[in-house]
Amino acid sequence: EKGGYRHFMLKEIYEQPRAMADTLAGRIREEAGDIYLEDLNLDDETLRSMDKVNIVACGTSWHAGLVGKFLAEKLARVPVEVDIASEFRYRDPIVTPRTLTVLISQSGETADTLAGLREAKGKGGKVVSICNVVDSSIARESDGVIYTHAGPEIGVASTKAFTTQLVALVLFACKLGRVRGTLDENECRLLGEELVKLPRKIEEALEQDAAIEEVAKLYMNASDFLYLGRGNQYPIALEGALKLKEISYIHAEGYPAGEMKHGPIALIDEHLPVVVLLPNNETREKVISNMQEVRARAGQVIAITDLDDSLVRDNADHVLTFPGIRDELMPVVLSVPMQLLAYHIAVLKGTDVDQPRNLAKSVTVE
Ligand code: F6R
Repeated sequence: EKGGYRHFMLKEIYEQPRAMADTLAGRIREEAGDIYLEDLNLDDETLRSMDKVNIVACGTSWHAGLVGKFLAEKLARVPVEVDIASEFRYRDPIVTPRTLTVLISQSGETADTLAGLREAKGKGGKVVSICNVVDSSIARESDGVIYTHAGPEIGVASTKAFTTQLVALVLFACKLGRVRGTLDENECRLLGEELVKLPRKIEEALEQDAAIEEVAKLYMNASDFLYLGRGNQYPIALEGALKLKEISYIHAEGYPAGEMKHGPIALIDEHLPVVVLLPNNETREKVISNMQEVRARAGQVIAITDLDDSLVRDNADHVLTFPGIRDELMPVVLSVPMQLLAYHIAVLKGTDVDQPRNLAKSVTVE
């Protein structure tokens, strides 16, 4: 049942090109330059009337939500707040009939996320969920659903569910942008064309597996890791750190790169590997200067990038290179090395990768 893979987690990492293609299937209307979400159940008029979006989730799904904020604000120009469900449900959140609350949950059964849904609905807001399990509690109680078609996820550490959530959020942000008039037909068509390329890009990213394993061997005995990213890669830094903590039991922190000098820089010495997400976008120079700050304090920089040039080489100890794609989709591509680095370190350490200690796949109690 592991299909020849050593662990479910590895199998699921490798299933991502297929999972992504399934999540996209039938949803891109190329000719119309539009997106079709079959179970959204909210008409254009209702969607247009929303003046705020709340995204509510836990754990890895919350990280997807943080990327969702960038997407919806950029493509639909709507204010987005992202909350951890256990915080949202208890803080008397501001929800009006013009608030759209988006719950993200792989299992569709997470207790706090379900309670967040009920809180938003109880206040008269509209509720859409992004779920992987058909007919789960969260899916059933939502006004509309965008299903991710990742297929069953067995490994406790979420991988393909996360990247398909990111894809679903791109589709949703495009849809919202079309309805609100902030994304024109042509731009939507271009984004659709890029989305279609994504499964192939992920296959190419997976080809770096052996190179990532080599880096894992060098750092498997570190006691702490720092992950840095800016903009839409900041949530991917958080996700990389969470994956490592969960399955290798190594302490790791994710930080927005620009925040490093406000505290975590004190941690840096020759024993600290720093994983830096370096997409080729307008943040690049800023991130490179953060790498220089790390190296000036003898920290070890592992750069994860889609542009391997002398500037990166001169400022990193290791460079892992991945295919480039439109910036909105780069968080999906760079999630792959986050997963594989954690996976290989955990395997080298001999932990129970698929069933890490103290964790459950579905958290149905608060
Ligand atoms: C991390 C992980 C958890 C879940 C969280 C929410 O790898 O799997 O952090 O993301 O428990 O679960 P769902 O998405 O089922 O609501």
